[in-house]
Amino acid sequence: MEVLTETARMKEWSRACREGGENVGLVPTMGYLHEGHLSLIRHCRSENERVVVSIFVNPTQFGPNEDLARYPRDPEADFTKCEALGVDAIFMPDVKEIYRPGFQTYVMVEEVSRTMCGAARPGHFRGVATVVLKLFNIVAPSAAYFGNKDYQQLQVIRTMVRDLDLDVRIEPCETVREHDGLAMSSRNAYLSPAERKQALCLYQALMEAQRLFANGERQPKQLLQAMSDRIDRERDAVVDYISLVHPETLRDLEEMNDGALAALAVKIGRTRLIDNMLLDARQPSEPCPGQMTQ
Ligand code: PAJ
Repeated sequence: MEVLTETARMKEWSRACREGGENVGLVPTMGYLHEGHLSLIRHCRSENERVVVSIFVNPTQFGPNEDLARYPRDPEADFTKCEALGVDAIFMPDVKEIYRPGFQTYVMVEEVSRTMCGAARPGHFRGVATVVLKLFNIVAPSAAYFGNKDYQQLQVIRTMVRDLDLDVRIEPCETVREHDGLAMSSRNAYLSPAERKQALCLYQALMEAQRLFANGERQPKQLLQAMSDRIDRERDAVVDYISLVHPETLRDLEEMNDGALAALAVKIGRTRLIDNMLLDARQPSEPCPGQMTQ
C-alpha cells in the first residue's frame, strides 16, 4: 500500500493504473476510520482493480465555530485498517497541498445545499463539493463511494456530477450502525457515556417515524411531532432540524405518498449528530433499516 501526499504523485499513480487498463475506485474520507468507512472500502474493493482511500480533514467544510481543530485523527490506525482491506493507495495531502496560496475557486450546488444541514452550516456543502471535485480531478476514479449516512452530502455530489458532466459513477452505501442502532460516526468519539446513551434517540425517533409510516400514517405533521417528542425525552438533546423531505429534491413534503426521507440533526451536549432513514411502507416489522454490526 502506498501513502501519497502530493497531488502530482497521486495523479501519476492513477494515470499509470488507467494506462495499464485497471479501473480505479475512490473512497473519500476525513480519516479516523470506523466500520462505516470500512464498509465503503470493502464495497469499492469488490468492484475495482485499484482502490484509493483519501484522508483529508477539509477545512473549507467547517464553520468558524465548528470542531475542525479537535476533529479526531489517527493516521497510523487508519493505515493498518486500510492495509488489512487491501487498499492500494492512500492519498493524504496536507492543507497547503489542496488549497495553495491564491486559491479562490469554489463549487456551489445550489438548491439541495440549502435545506437541512446546509441551513445550519452555511458554506458546508460548498466546501464538500469543492474538495470532492478536486479529489475527482486528482484521482480520476471511475467510481466513488459515499455513505447514505450523510444523505444530503450524497445528493449534493450526485447533483454536481450530473450538472458538471463528470465521468464518475457515484455508488451509495447503506448506513452502518452500532449494535443498538446508533449510526457510526467519527464524532461519536466526543460523547461521554451518559451522552452516548441519549444519542440513541436519533435512531429511535427515525424508527418511530418508520413504524407510524408503515402503519399508514401519512400526515407529515404527525410524523414530525412523534420524532420531536422522542428527542425531547433526552435531557441533553437539542433539535437542530427534523425534516421529512423528497428523497431526490430534499424539498419538504406537504403530503406523503410512497417515498419520503426522514432526516434529523440533534445536538447531544456539544456534539452535533445526524441520521436519516428512507421510510418504507412495506417494512412494518423491519427491526433496523441499515446494516448493524455485531
Ligand atoms: P467522513 O465523515 O469521514 O465520511 C466519509 C464517508 O464515509 C462518507 O461518504 C460518509 O457518508 C461515510 N460514512 C460515515 N459514517 C458512515 C456510516 N455509519 N455508514 C456508512 N457510511 C458512513 O463525509 C466526509 O468524511 C467528508 O465530507 C468528505 C466526503 C470526505 C469530503 O471532505
